[in-house]
Amino acid sequence: MKKLYIETYGCQMNVADTEVIFSLLGKHGYERTEDISEADVIMANTCSVRDNAEQRILGRIEVFNQQKKARPEVLVGILGCMAERLKEELLQTGKVDIVAGPDAYRSLPLLLQNAAPGQPQINVQLSREETYADISPVRIDRNGVSAFISIMRGCNNVCSYCVVPYTRGAERSRDYHSIVREACECFEGGYKEITLLGQNVDSYSYGDCNFAGLLRMVAEALPGLRIRFSTSNPQDISDEVLEVMSSHDNICRHIHLPVQSGSDRILEKMRRRYTREWYLQRVAAIRRYMPDCAITTDVIAGFCSETEEDHKDTLSIFEEVGFDAAFMFYYSERPGTLAARKFPDDVPQEVKNRRLEEIIALQNRLSLESNRRDVGKSFRVLVEGPSKRNPSELCGRAGNNKMCIWPDTAHKAGDFVDVEVLDCTQATLFCRLKG
Ligand code: SAH
Ligand code: SF4
Ligand code: F3S
Repeated sequence: MKKLYIETYGCQMNVADTEVIFSLLGKHGYERTEDISEADVIMANTCSVRDNAEQRILGRIEVFNQQKKARPEVLVGILGCMAERLKEELLQTGKVDIVAGPDAYRSLPLLLQNAAPGQPQINVQLSREETYADISPVRIDRNGVSAFISIMRGCNNVCSYCVVPYTRGAERSRDYHSIVREACECFEGGYKEITLLGQNVDSYSYGDCNFAGLLRMVAEALPGLRIRFSTSNPQDISDEVLEVMSSHDNICRHIHLPVQSGSDRILEKMRRRYTREWYLQRVAAIRRYMPDCAITTDVIAGFCSETEEDHKDTLSIFEEVGFDAAFMFYYSERPGTLAARKFPDDVPQEVKNRRLEEIIALQNRLSLESNRRDVGKSFRVLVEGPSKRNPSELCGRAGNNKMCIWPDTAHKAGDFVDVEVLDCTQATLFCRLKG
């Protein structure tokens, strides 16, 4: 057996893909190692979504090449979104032996077979059909209790700032039979939670099955499994999905609903296909069906032409919704996107930073307020393991995705326990076990 080492960057989709890659290469004589110094093949599954994500990978390529200096037969591979975006450019560095895009992983055994130092191999062909539906992923154990299942690939939206449609190609949905089968395998393998993944899960469509249908199918086939999903696009999230969520206890009360901006002018420039009003109306619908549903978001500060007024609209929509948590970024121009071609990246970096800091400060307060509202409430929590701070405490997430910590030496990872919230910080709920 040869030894394969993979570092995974970017979104959950990449984690799921790395698991597919371990499975594909496992059948061709490669076993996983977590020790880079014994690896025959060193790979990074990469992200292009922001410039700093790419800079980080370029740094890792240097580190991988130090391994090559000591052991010249080692092969270095770049996989995923950055492979797809930069293509041959990566080979021209002379530091990479294999470049494979997100739809080219079935060709990895062949690429590896043909590659040798000085003889690089590349496959960045995108596909309209590939979903790796027949591959049973080899789980990279994050905690042994929660697994990712990708239900679709690619994206058909063209948000003007976003590189994903270029790196991942056209949207396609995976056969629901294979999704339910994989969920069953997870459950039989001891997993207690799955997250269904897609760039826009509400546009899932296979035969006559939409996302609401898929969610119902999985929830009913596996009542003992806790189900999450990501990402919901505000333009597409349907009442039917909310109805299915509210009528199944094993679907977690959490929706990740990226808002990106609170300004209609900016949303239009971003080519997001909703308005502030529409977004707020979807939030109201979520709360009508599930008053206890957590809502989290993504936001971009300092998009092209964003004024102080637009920025204030973003702050005010945060305030109005009262998000439970958020991923917050400043705009990073991505070559080849519509925004890069049409709009100057004209908000100065200091202004982007300052606006981002204001959003973060506001969200910190909103997260704390949201957690304070949970003090006194009880939650069923899936135990992930010992807390980092204290080995006599356990940690795990409530259905609303909040991290809970409580003193406990009786339970273990994978157990469901009922806890009551006693206190909180902006990041954590401090709890006690309920008798
Ligand atoms: N499909 C998901 C988003 C995937 S990318 C959706 O539509 O919501 C994850 C997040 O990265 C986005 O929600 C956005 O907030 C951020 N992002 C994407 N492109 C970016 C860019 N060019 N600069 C800064 N942040 C960006
Ligand atoms: Fe990017 Fe928009 Fe697609 Fe999300 S929906 S991946 S932000 S193009
Ligand atoms: Fe990054 Fe590609 Fe995911 S660009 S966010 S790894 S889809």
